[in-house]
Order: sequence, then C-alpha cells, then structure tokens
Amino acid sequence: MIHFPRTSLARELVDALSGDISLSDAPNGLFLAAPRRTGKSTFLRFDLCPELDRRGALPIYVDLWSDKGRDPAELITGAIRDAAVKTMGLGQKLKKSMKGKVAAMGVGVSFDPDAIGRRDGLSLPEGLVRLHEVAKRPICLIVDEAQHALTTKGGANAMSALKSARDQMNGPGSVALMLVMSGSDRDKLLRLVNSNAAPFFGSHISRMPLLGLPYVEHVTAEVRRTYPELGKVSAEELLTPFELFGARPQFFVDAINEAIRDAKSGRSFDETVLSLAKNAEEMAYEQMEATYMALPGLERAILWAMLESGGGFRPYDAKALAFYRKKTGKAVTAAQTQAALARLREREGPLVWKSARGEYAIEDAAMARWFEALRDLKRWPPSS
Ligand SMILES: Nc1ncnc2c1ncn2[C@@H]1O[C@H](COP(=O)(O)OP(=O)(O)O)[C@@H](O)[C@H]1O
Ligand SMILES: [Mg+2]
Repeated sequence: MIHFPRTSLARELVDALSGDISLSDAPNGLFLAAPRRTGKSTFLRFDLCPELDRRGALPIYVDLWSDKGRDPAELITGAIRDAAVKTMGLGQKLKKSMKGKVAAMGVGVSFDPDAIGRRDGLSLPEGLVRLHEVAKRPICLIVDEAQHALTTKGGANAMSALKSARDQMNGPGSVALMLVMSGSDRDKLLRLVNSNAAPFFGSHISRMPLLGLPYVEHVTAEVRRTYPELGKVSAEELLTPFELFGARPQFFVDAINEAIRDAKSGRSFDETVLSLAKNAEEMAYEQMEATYMALPGLERAILWAMLESGGGFRPYDAKALAFYRKKTGKAVTAAQTQAALARLREREGPLVWKSARGEYAIEDAAMARWFEALRDLKRWPPSS
C-alpha cells in the first residue's frame, strides 16, 4: 500500500517546534505518544524529516528500538556522529566545487565527528554545538521510542545531556536545537517529564493524532482504482473496521486484501472487512485474558494493581502489599513482590517495564485498554 502523506500535521509540528506559535512549549521539546503500529515512525521519518529539511533545519532521526542490544546512549551518539559526517562530507564536496566561497562557509569550524560522546572527546552538548556551527542550520533531533533511553544509566544521562544542550543552544527568539521525543506508551514517556529528577521536568506529552478518515479515503481510492469490479467501496463504511483495528494500517490493509480475495467468491467486501476487524479485537482480548489467567497468583495481583493504578504504581507500599494479600490470600513481602516483578519483566513476552530508576509500568499499553474494556463491561476480573 502506498504511503499516505501527512503533510499538514508535519507542517503544524514544525511551526510549533521553530517557535512560530507563541505560547507553544514545543521549542522546549515535543513529546508525542501514540500506541504501537499506528504510524509514528513512518510519520517521523517520511513526513516530519522531509518537512524539517524543506524548512531549512537539519533532521537527525534515531529509533531506540532499532537495536535493542545496543545502549540507547550509543544509538543517540551514533546518529549525531553520522549526521556530522554527512554534513561535513557535503561540505567537502562544496569546497571543491565552490573554491572562492569556501571561506564564507566557515571551513575553519570543522571537527572530528568521531570525538562526539567520547570520554576524551566532545560531550553530547559540545558535539551538537559544533555540528550546528558547521551545518549552519537549526538541528532537530528526533528520538523515537525515547522512553527506552531510561532503561539504562547511559541512556538516562544522554537524555539529561540533550536537555542541557537545548538550554545552551536555545534562547529567546532563537531555536538552534529542536527535540522531538516519541513513544508508544504515554505512561513510560511520562518518566521523562514528570518528576523533579526527570530530564525534561515540566514538559507535557501530546497525543500524536491517529490516522483516520483521510487515510481510509486514500486506501479506499486505491482499492477502487485497482479493483473496479468490487463496485461501491465506501470510506465511511471502512472507517469503523479501521478504528476496531486500533487505527493500525497493517492489520487494516491485511483485512482489505483478504476481503478482496473473498469478494471473488461473492462475499460483500465491506462486511468481510468489518467482521475481520471484530474477530481481531476479540482474539486480542482473548489472548490477553489467557495470558493473565495463566499467571501465578502474586503476579496476577501485581498486574491487577498496576492496571488499576493507571500510572502511579508503587509496588511496595503498605496499600499495595495489603492488596496482594487480599487477592492471593497470603501475606506477601516486599522481597517476594520484587521477585515476582522480575519474573514479569523477564518472561518471554515481558508484561512489565522498569526504568533504571526503579519505576514500573505495564509493558504493553493495549493491556490497559483490555482492562478498561472489561471493567466497563463489569467483567473485571476475568474468571477462568
Ligand atoms: N501514513 C501511512 N501510510 C501508509 N501506511 C502507513 C502509514 N503510517 C504507517 N503505515 C504503516 O503502518 C505500519 C506501522 O507503522 P509504524 O510507523 O512502524 O508505526 P509505529 O512507529 O507507531 O509503531 C507500517 O507497516 C507502515 O507501513
Ligand atoms: Mg515505531
């Protein structure tokens, strides 16, 4: 399926980032949350980066999930080094072709990109300042799945360094470093902004808009064009299944393809897509229920407490321990809780996430939606 461009959203965000909108806090950093697979990375890479480039900024994109085996700090530093190499590489080419103008381009400020982030080299803020001098344009660093930085000490330090770079490089009316942090989970992203010790204390997190009717119209138009034999295919009809798929393009497009195959044997296209969407939601919830029910009692009680706390979870306080005791019928110690939390994190398909500072959150935000759905139906807790 071809890319659906989100140009106006990109334009709006760049306006906000560059300080063109008074009262917007975006020049201090833009924090965007939206569930997994809803198109964040695609938007950041294929809409936001090109728009930044068009508007004269230097975009640097790094996805902290791109290699979970590497320290997030290394990934961030690596992306900045790569951008410096690329920027100076271009500078070199210009140097050859524009001999007379070299001086004006400030060749004297070149530096060794490899020194960025090395102990005996340049700190992250120093590296960014130098890169800005060489590039002669504002830098926009986009950190995708930024919450992952907090899972290591190095990553957390890198975040603080970015904040300090921002403070050094930006002043009233001039923005030399823009920061965009995105994440699949608002709760985890909150750890970057919600306490005195958090690197971006005071910033707030925006919901990144989900794809909606315009995207569905775009897909519908393509289906109509490619399969005119399907007859009437309406975007309005397809919007409901798209939303049932959690506004996730991949699942939606898979269902469309299946419905196209089925339509050849006479089934209604719209109805097939809708029933596939309903099945998918039901199956996802059944899967979660099965996972939950298969957990040992204490793990289940802890997860319940986390789901119910909706973000401010304190695993070891008296209230939590009393809750576990009530649910499991046994006295529970902090040490037992800690061990159970470790098991929840270390299992194949982790259910719990932990920051380097010892804060916990539900790993998959979809589980919170499942919990809320059951609670709304007065079906919580599930029974086997
Ligand atoms: N604007 C778009 N147009 C078409 N497909 C999209 C668009 N945005 C996302 N997708 C598709 O949706 C899937 C998930 O997108 P991705 O950007 O990886 O989501 P996220 O980063 O939120 O997990 C990918 O297969 C991608 O191709
Ligand atoms: Mg992504």
